[in-house]
Amino acid sequence: MPTEKPFRTIIEPFRIKSVEPLRRTTRAQRDAALRAAGWNLFALRGQDVLLDLLTDSGTGALSAQQWSMMMRGDETYAGADSFYRFESAVRDITGLAHVIPTHQGRAAERILMGALVHPGDVVPNNTHFDTTRANIEHRGATAIDLPCLQSRAERNAPFKGNIDLARLEATLIEHKGRVPFVMITVTNNSGGGQPVSLANIRATREMCTRHGVPFYLDACRFAENAWFIHMREDGQATRSPLAIARDMFACVDGCTMSAKKDGMANIGGFLAINDPSVVELCRANLILTEGFPTYGGLAGYDLEAIAVGLYEALDEEYLRYRIRSIAYLAERLEDAGIPMLTPPGGHALYLDAAAMLPHIPWNQYPGCSLAAAIYLEGGVRACEIGSMMFGQQPDGTERPAAQELVRLAFPRRVYTQSHVDYLVEVLVRVHARREQINGMHIVRAPLVLRHFSARLEPCGAELYEATRVMACSTR
Ligand code: F0G
Repeated sequence: MPTEKPFRTIIEPFRIKSVEPLRRTTRAQRDAALRAAGWNLFALRGQDVLLDLLTDSGTGALSAQQWSMMMRGDETYAGADSFYRFESAVRDITGLAHVIPTHQGRAAERILMGALVHPGDVVPNNTHFDTTRANIEHRGATAIDLPCLQSRAERNAPFKGNIDLARLEATLIEHKGRVPFVMITVTNNSGGGQPVSLANIRATREMCTRHGVPFYLDACRFAENAWFIHMREDGQATRSPLAIARDMFACVDGCTMSAKKDGMANIGGFLAINDPSVVELCRANLILTEGFPTYGGLAGYDLEAIAVGLYEALDEEYLRYRIRSIAYLAERLEDAGIPMLTPPGGHALYLDAAAMLPHIPWNQYPGCSLAAAIYLEGGVRACEIGSMMFGQQPDGTERPAAQELVRLAFPRRVYTQSHVDYLVEVLVRVHARREQINGMHIVRAPLVLRHFSARLEPCGAELYEATRVMACSTR
């Protein structure tokens, strides 16, 4: 038999059985919605958004298989069948012994930190996600980010999510006895959705063993990470994402998981842990706020959706389409000269707002201006990841964030190629008028996590200036 020549086009590996209409708005309606939202896209109503790329968390489409298993959801309070199906899927994929369901990722974090982290401790990570950092700091400990040097210095390094092993070792020596565990986040969301290599995970395991420190994964996007390993790491091309994922988990003592990402569910999460003494502490903590250990704040049908979703996230056809759809967007933007972080991440593409809007200083939040301009232009909602999100210091002062980014995060199995083509058109139009985009200033903001609820206003009162005449003088 001659081998079949592969097709160049990578198709969405599903057909659509159930649809949800999108609501179109006029520019005038979007302008009014932006003003009512205080120019903060978190305050928009979903129905005013055409393409919602705010997050890939809990926003995906369920499969027919998930819906059918959800009908089998067993809502028994203790010992439901749904729990055992969920537990068996998590054990099969992670190889970790004990599985604790939680209502989402940050609940797993809070419970783990409650069991293991004490005041004065130090927890290293390639880059902590906001809630992970907040849960560590809430325990009076310090969260340290140790991204590898290539993450900033090289344009297209394959594993920009790696942890910096030299700095990790120095941290373990400097803070000996005060590091309750080391964590690696796959993929590195706050660092641009970049993957971590199996070699880096294995080297971290070896180092943690030498120092007698446990090692945990923040596994939210473990399947996307496994696919990048399959595509980019020497010797992994013939291995399945499931086999690679098992190797990743074989290196760790436990993991936290938000099933709203690679669990392909709308809600849910879990902790999976080997050490029975840690499990005991976590279960005690769980009952206080989440519920009995066989449901952990979830309905039986949620547990079913996750049990199926974890395998669907590891499906090769799905992963090929998923990663390719972001790469396709990146290629189109590259052609248009639109600045972004490269290579693109697994779940999102990060626009470089500082490079696109060099006339807007960091303390006029170029990422917020760019995100607002993208919404105004085409009804697309993105998320600022820059000095609005990270600039506020505990003492009330402000510091520039490391980068001024706008994240376009893709819900799983929701949008098709024509949606991406439309998005490209929107971004090209915004880019063409970039010099006329004004900065923003804060009208009102809370003292913590201000990016969710701050009210802003364009400097000069309009987002687009017909001719740029003024810089904002209010800050
Ligand atoms: N860890 C990472 C790496 C995450 O990206 C998230 C959530 C969490 C933990 C917390 O999980 O939301 O289920 O409580 N990230 C979402 C995002 C919110 O938009 O990136 P959760």
